[in-house]
Amino acid sequence: MDPNLEAVSKVTVPDILDRKLRGERITCLTAYDYPTARLVDEAGIDTILVGDSVAQTVLGYDSTVPVTVDEMLHHLKAVRRAVRRALVMVDLPFGAYHTEPGRAVEAAIRYLKEGGAEAVKLEGGRRRIEVIRKLVDAEIPVVGHIGLTPQSVHSMGGYHVQGKTVETAGDLLTDAEAVEEAGAFAIVLEGLPRELAGIITRRLRIPTIGIGAGPECDGQVLVFHDLVGLSFQNPAKFVRSYADLTGTLRQALAEYRRDVMEGAYPADRESYHWSPAVRAEFERVRT
Ligand code: KIV
Repeated sequence: MDPNLEAVSKVTVPDILDRKLRGERITCLTAYDYPTARLVDEAGIDTILVGDSVAQTVLGYDSTVPVTVDEMLHHLKAVRRAVRRALVMVDLPFGAYHTEPGRAVEAAIRYLKEGGAEAVKLEGGRRRIEVIRKLVDAEIPVVGHIGLTPQSVHSMGGYHVQGKTVETAGDLLTDAEAVEEAGAFAIVLEGLPRELAGIITRRLRIPTIGIGAGPECDGQVLVFHDLVGLSFQNPAKFVRSYADLTGTLRQALAEYRRDVMEGAYPADRESYHWSPAVRAEFERVRT
């Protein structure tokens, strides 16, 4: 049997909820295209987020604010083609859920129908209750996201750790409970003191997925390009880079350039050849 056709045990939304009950950790990474999504899926990562961080990591914007629903859909489709096992989630970008909830539902339906997403993620706490409820009513699984919410970069005045005071920590706990109550099946906690993330994790029935929120969350997510060292910026404190792809790629590119300049590439073994009969015939008719 073709090994590619072997049965894979697909990760589903109920599986993610069960993990919390069983006390099993959840792994999550972002991916934005076919090769990265394929590698992430084949590594056995449980959930893949087509994050709006694509705006910075791949599209060269300086924040996540400009990326559009259509741009996200384009990347989602590429990821979907690669993934067999992981649960595929996608970010609703800034502006897609901040006006009428109906618009958010329409965008999310496109993600499920055209892009093959299995869940959508959106940022914010109590202010997002109405839209989360509407999405859940439309059978669209929702992941919340609170704390350092990058789409709010302008109102936060930069990318700062949130919940550092008793008052703001209390607000975030209330936000987390509201998101759970509205029907989200998981919640991303970003840029929080680990103590607060631990309290929220123990308080909620749904799993928490942390990024820059310490080890007590039920799962962890990282941006793919940070993990492999391909992000062209100094990594945040919470990032662990498991590879230096920037260095590896720079070296490969420099070697390619040198080989072409010196005539060392392509070599004979990298060239196609006539058969001796064609060579002889060509020489006969052309000379
Ligand atoms: O877009 C993204 O990569 C995210 C993660 C940081 C959770 O939202």
